[in-house]
Amino acid sequence: MNKLENKVVVVTGASKGIGASIAKYFAAEGAKVVVNYASSKEGADNVVKAITDAGGKAISVQGDVSKAADVTRLFEETKNAFGALDILVNNAGIYQYAPIEEVSADSFDKQFAINVWGSLLAIQASLKLFGDKGGNIINISSEAGKTPLPTGAVYSATKAALDAITISLSKELGAKNVRINSILPGIVETEGSHSGGFIGSDMEAKLVANTPLGRTGQPEDVAKVAVFLASDDAGWITGEKISVSGGIYGL
Ligand SMILES: NC(=O)c1ccc[n+]([C@@H]2O[C@H](COP(=O)([O-])OP(=O)(O)OC[C@H]3O[C@@H](n4cnc5c(N)ncnc54)[C@H](OP(=O)(O)O)[C@@H]3O)[C@@H](O)[C@H]2O)c1
Repeated sequence: MNKLENKVVVVTGASKGIGASIAKYFAAEGAKVVVNYASSKEGADNVVKAITDAGGKAISVQGDVSKAADVTRLFEETKNAFGALDILVNNAGIYQYAPIEEVSADSFDKQFAINVWGSLLAIQASLKLFGDKGGNIINISSEAGKTPLPTGAVYSATKAALDAITISLSKELGAKNVRINSILPGIVETEGSHSGGFIGSDMEAKLVANTPLGRTGQPEDVAKVAVFLASDDAGWITGEKISVSGGIYGL
């Protein structure tokens, strides 16, 4: 029996990286998947193709999660395609590291707009589609919110904010049968961590040295835990911050 049979899920930022892996693992467990992306249409279409080639169901929908009109359209298209919504995975996020002297208003605004406000907009839209049956929200946070690194003040602040949202909303929404949890990945090899210069860097080497399981993560390490949290196996888990990090203890 598939763990997510016929569940409808929106995965934000699923054209690559951790989001793409979550989309594929959810589809393999029987979910109907909305693959959201901001600009990488080709990446999103490739994820949809991989899912449908394997016999699953998926569509791609463009939408910048930091823009209210885009988020409204994303969830309208979800309803039009699949008629309902059971699960939201707030994965879309950006990470911009810089020494404090170089932190700009633009970088601050952008990271908070996507990582925090974008997650709140998607949650608001999801609640309307969850309806009386309830639903399930997974926020892809970061170990960086718990053990912030040098030059990561703003990014870490966005993820600490996201974790606060998880805890607050677990109390607000439990009576509506909505579960909400954060996953806190350690460093994971993705398109974003490659293009940001993290993979192969001194920072990665130090992080792996402080990781008991001794390696950088892969997207599927996170995706498998997301499947668990979305499934009935996690039916009595809400408001939790779950580290998926090889046991990393920071720098
Ligand atoms: N990689 C790590 O080491 C790591 C560790 C801890 C936590 N995380 C978190 O995990 C999540 C995914 O990270 P990743 O490394 O997989 O990133 P990634 O490879 O850079 O992929 C980011 C995804 O988010 C999408 N996205 C970016 N801005 C968006 C927006 N405004 N609206 C909608 N989608 C948007 C991108 O879409 P386009 O391609 O269309 O732009 C892409 O699909 C992030 O929240 C990140 O903070 C990552």
